[in-house]
Amino acid sequence: MRIGVLISGNGSNLQSIIDNEKYINAKVEVVISSKDSYGLERARNHNIDAYYETDEEKIITILKEKNVDLVVLAGYLTIISPKFVDSFKDRIINIHPSLIPSFCGKGYYGMNVHKSVINSGVKVSGATVHFVDYLADTGPIIMQDIVYIENNDDEISLSKKVLEVEHRILVESIKLFVENKLKIEGKRVIINEGVN
Ligand code: GAR
Repeated sequence: MRIGVLISGNGSNLQSIIDNEKYINAKVEVVISSKDSYGLERARNHNIDAYYETDEEKIITILKEKNVDLVVLAGYLTIISPKFVDSFKDRIINIHPSLIPSFCGKGYYGMNVHKSVINSGVKVSGATVHFVDYLADTGPIIMQDIVYIENNDDEISLSKKVLEVEHRILVESIKLFVENKLKIEGKRVIINEGVN
């Protein structure tokens, strides 16, 4: 299976996919970044075609040319259009650094999320992998896991804890997708461990 990864920054989630290509039995064919970011260097270090591109039409064209089966938004900080979603129907997944439906939607990205979480006083946060639909962070949820917020946590320490969860559940979710074990039923994603 061929994966296209969209990023905007450091690319640590991208790195975890690359490091686990064998485990998930898929290959990252192309990386596209909306910023001139370190993630592009990570891709090039692994001889993966990498583009700095902000024009959505061009991004869709590249992904089509590369014949990708799955598009992973891995720290991609741009909201994609309905046309983009329709071009890869049920084949786009996103990682979000909170427990959706909390701390998500417009304006909630990167460190903003963790700041809001800390300021709210909640005792748990986490990460969510979900299919992408027409709105921000509303698509069917594939996998979530939690972290506990301790007295001495700030947004930096929380972001580190959450990233560890992200790297794990993103890889596991992609593996399930590749193995055709995910079935979308309305808002729910049914994980069918039996199918292979
Ligand atoms: C990650 O925490 C990811 O969940 C978040 O940006 C960070 C990117 O880190 N994405 C969003 O906030 C999307 N709404 P990375 O570049 O090291 O993978």
